[in-house]
Amino acid sequence: MDLSRFARRRYTAGFTPIEPLPRLSDALGGAELWIKRDDLLGLAGGGNKTRKLEFLIADALAKGADTLITVGAPQSNHCRLTLAAAAREGLACRLVIEERVAGSYAPDALGNNLLFDLMGAANVRMVKAGADLAAEMAADAAAVTAAGGNPYIIVGGGSSPLGALGYAACAQEIMGQAFEAGLVFDRIVVASGSAGTHSGLVAGLVALNAGIPVTGINVRRPRAEQEANVLKLAQATADLLNTPQPQASDIVCLDEWVGPGYSLPTRAMVEAVRLLAAREGVLLDPVYSGKAMAGLIGLVRDGRIAAHERVLFLHTGGSPSLPAFAADLRNADLN
Ligand SMILES: Cc1ncc(COP(=O)(O)O)c(C=O)c1O
Repeated sequence: MDLSRFARRRYTAGFTPIEPLPRLSDALGGAELWIKRDDLLGLAGGGNKTRKLEFLIADALAKGADTLITVGAPQSNHCRLTLAAAAREGLACRLVIEERVAGSYAPDALGNNLLFDLMGAANVRMVKAGADLAAEMAADAAAVTAAGGNPYIIVGGGSSPLGALGYAACAQEIMGQAFEAGLVFDRIVVASGSAGTHSGLVAGLVALNAGIPVTGINVRRPRAEQEANVLKLAQATADLLNTPQPQASDIVCLDEWVGPGYSLPTRAMVEAVRLLAAREGVLLDPVYSGKAMAGLIGLVRDGRIAAHERVLFLHTGGSPSLPAFAADLRNADLN
């Protein structure tokens, strides 16, 4: 796998740490748990989108873009980080906010919404769930072009094959760190949403012949739909890399921790966020990493992850949204 032939901007100094989670492992009484701290990636507040944006922004700059356009949910980490990259590069940025849960968009909310304002989004507009997001972004692009600008559209979550390269790079980083530390991981657990993180990771691990299974924990979609999405994008990423194709057997997307729906709180999520904060001083988020960690905890408790396994949890970030979900995290019925 040769990533050096792809143009890349650098937004993180060095590698993100891989750390043990001894007090979480003790609390669960089984499995040796580790964490890859992609919440500490560069750009405002860190998180997985920074790795994808390194490749996407390099492409935008190569094409002479002056305005980025992207889409995300009301508390989108992807929108926050795209805006941060735009600020860093001196580009304008327009955000289309998809109100996936009716009534959930409040322009003056805390968390990522506040950061949209602080980082100076050129335009933020809300569209209802089910809107044609590609058409909505194309309309923004047409407005930019009409005003003499040069727009660059980034798909939701940055989950194109080019964006997913960021997680093929992460697979390479993990394998290098594991080698240096003399660690053999039996499994990697990661949140699976717009699928670029999961797909890029699998494409990278397959290219490296790593033999480490990845367990995706869904945050939105049912299992079969998500597995198809991840496989398709992992294969397209492998095509771009010119590396061996991931197979259906490489893709697992468990949907038992989605709860009532995308971004809606669950008791298991609240427990996971509180447990990691109180026992390890690590902040998760309610929408992605909190549900993914709830999945990891559930799998250890029910024995699907065996007590002898050494497991790496990929922390995809998201903690800047925590203030916006304070009421859920303090809700007595969920504690
Ligand atoms: C904090 C966080 N974790 C995980 C994900 C899911 O990653 P992906 O969309 O690449 O599947 C996202 C995506 O929005 C995210 O913001």
